[in-house]
Formats: sequence, structure tokens, C-alpha cells
Amino acid sequence: MNYLKNNNYAEKPAVLIESEKIAERIKKMGNLIAGRYAGKHTTVVAVSNGAVLFVADLIRNISVPLQLDTISAYSYEGSESSGKISFSSKMKLEISDRHVLLVDDILDTGRTLKRLKNYLKTLNPAGLETCVLLDKPSRRLVDINADYVGFEIADNFVVGYGLDYNEYYRNLPYIGVLNT
Ligand code: IMP
Ligand code: MG
Repeated sequence: MNYLKNNNYAEKPAVLIESEKIAERIKKMGNLIAGRYAGKHTTVVAVSNGAVLFVADLIRNISVPLQLDTISAYSYEGSESSGKISFSSKMKLEISDRHVLLVDDILDTGRTLKRLKNYLKTLNPAGLETCVLLDKPSRRLVDINADYVGFEIADNFVVGYGLDYNEYYRNLPYIGVLNT
């Protein structure tokens, strides 16, 4: 079945990264991040909606005191980035003088993360690092790299584990590729 012609979102996308591998990698990332943030006033800021599943698992593997907040960003329509990033700057927590870890699901063209990073910088955090589960380096259009990366992947449109196609598939427990 072709998903893009027949959008009932029912057939399972092919597995790219199985859930056990995701869990294993997140455990390592969490340990690494915990080591770097020990003794610092830490605030994790997750980009919603995509990073919601990732951040939930990630912070349970970061064994240092931290606060959690979210910021919303939207750019994709279907599987093509519109290039226009909208974001809601409404965060609940103050981040001035905090060590901020900005967490997103995927680094693609880089526009979203760059835009959000620049915005958070204006709020004067004590530190600002970025963490993504997935990185598609071949798609980069702006100069940005994440400080922590789960997996580098090729230029495929992926879904699952928080990543969507038309807001569907976020609930898949693994990272899958759509049959386009
Ligand atoms: P960027 O601004 O082009 O780096 O896009 C980043 C945002 O686009 C991410 O936060 C995702 O929400 C979305 N995105 C990029 N690539 C994919 C993909 O392969 N599948 C689903 N969403 C994606
Ligand atoms: Mg998204």
C-alpha cells in the first residue's frame, strides 16, 4: 500500500531503528549528559510535539536534579519542510542563569534548532547545549550541529517515537520509514 496516496495511516512503516536500540542508546546519552550536568542548575527544554517521547525517556536516564519545560515549534506539512518555522515562546520556567539542554527529535535542515537556540540565547542562560535523537547531516541548510546525537541517519523521511507524518505515527514505538 502506498501511504502517500492512501492515507489511512494503518499499515506499519518499515523498521529503521527498533525500540530496544533506541532505549539502549538513550541510556548511554543520559549517562553522558548526567556526567556533564552534575552540580549545575539544569533545565531541559523539549521541542514539542516531536521530542515528547524522546525527552520522557531521556530525562529518566539523567540522574541529576533538573527542571523540565517545553517550547512548541512547527515547520513540516506532510513530508516537506515548509521552511517557515513558527514557534511559541511561552515557556513556564525562567532559564536565566540555568544550564539549558534543548532537546528535539531530529536535526534536518537545522532551521528549527538554530531558530530556537538563538531565541533561548536571548534569555541569558548560563549554558546552552542541544540534543537530538536523530541527525540527517546530508540535509543541512544552516550551520548548526547538536552537542548530543542519538543516531545519524540517511535522507529518509522517518516516523515514530514522536516523529509524525501529518501528525500521525507519533505513537509507533520504533523509528520507521514510510513507503513513499
Ligand atoms: P529542520 O528545521 O529542517 O531541522 O526540521 C526539524 C523539524 O522537522 C523536526 O523538529 C521535526 O519535527 C521535523 N522533521 C524533520 N525531518 C523529519 C522526518 O524525517 N520525519 C518527521 N519529522 C521530521
Ligand atoms: Mg515535528
